[in-house]
Amino acid sequence: MFKLIPNFSLRHNNSFGIDVCANYWLTISEVKDLDEAMTKYPHLREETKMIIGGGSNLLFLSDFDGVILSPDFCGYEISYQDDLVIELEVGAGVEWDDFVEYCVEHGWYGVENLSLIPGKVGAAPVQNIGAYGVEAEQVIVKVNGFNLETSELESYTREQCQFSYRSSIFKEKMLNRFMVTSVVFRLQKRGELVSEYGDLNRVMKELGEPSLKNAREAVIQIRRSKLPDPKILGNAGSFFRNPVLSAREAASLADFLPGLPLYPTSGKEVKVAAGFLIDHAGWKGRRLGRAAVHDRQALVLVNLGGATGAEILELSMAIQQDIFEKYGVVLEREVQVVE
Ligand code: EPU
Repeated sequence: MFKLIPNFSLRHNNSFGIDVCANYWLTISEVKDLDEAMTKYPHLREETKMIIGGGSNLLFLSDFDGVILSPDFCGYEISYQDDLVIELEVGAGVEWDDFVEYCVEHGWYGVENLSLIPGKVGAAPVQNIGAYGVEAEQVIVKVNGFNLETSELESYTREQCQFSYRSSIFKEKMLNRFMVTSVVFRLQKRGELVSEYGDLNRVMKELGEPSLKNAREAVIQIRRSKLPDPKILGNAGSFFRNPVLSAREAASLADFLPGLPLYPTSGKEVKVAAGFLIDHAGWKGRRLGRAAVHDRQALVLVNLGGATGAEILELSMAIQQDIFEKYGVVLEREVQVVE
């Protein structure tokens, strides 16, 4: 059954906590709900549509003149398993971290490093979420959903998803045209932990034997120590992508900035830590109005309380300009700005 709410405040549905409204909020838990809603309220067909998962990667600049679709598809279904792997279809509306916890409790490897990422399962393929050496694309087999333009159900294989660093076809060409209903993940029953990233190995060892549970616990501890809880301090995780430079550009930047963390990519390019650049440029903890750079992770911008989207955007643009002037590096936003 669908639920339609007019003049809906989005304050609790975007992790920055920006106080804006949408014309309508439409929750659907089955694909047919969408058709039923449009049949009962035909004027909704004319409204601009936007799909929200957890709202944890969005920056609203003003009220949204349209209808927000909130997919609430639930549940887990095993679609295949053998001695080594299990394929699990998970509803787009399941909280991402509940899914991770479920996998860890069942002893299935693959998503433990993605513990505590805010948002819903349906958003994971959209921006190819990643952390601590793992990206969602490594465990996604298929994405199922509904094409809002053709009103057809469609499935995308991993290749068709066109995954890249924090992006996919769903964040580009199909943005707000395709509503994810479920995601099929392939998890390992006898996997290996990925623990080379940063402090992960050390923190996991402090917790005891390396294990799935300890890997999850270590990631949770590290995240809690650096990343602000959006329920307490509005934020959308990393505001910028880590820039990907040619090997030569990265090497000359590292000469100029000793200690700059460099991460080789699968190609010839090198990813550099944007947080280090922003920190080094002196932005950590700085504020502009009610927006600020988080004092423990310079890649995260926060709402100190009552900030507008424009204030946060202004701060982000000042950072982009400064980083370009100081280091010649263009910082691209990871967060999606909604005008
Ligand atoms: N650093 C600083 N100062 C800072 C922040 C970072 O010097 O203020 C240095 C750190 O010391 C570290 C390096 O930069 O050596 C990287 O920092 P961190 O491990 O915190 O990761 P990140 O590159 O800043 C990325 C992801 C995060 C993810 C972490 C861990 C992106 C845009 N961000 O951040 O993802 O949790 O790695 O894997 O790729 C997100 O996308 O919203 C997000 C939080």
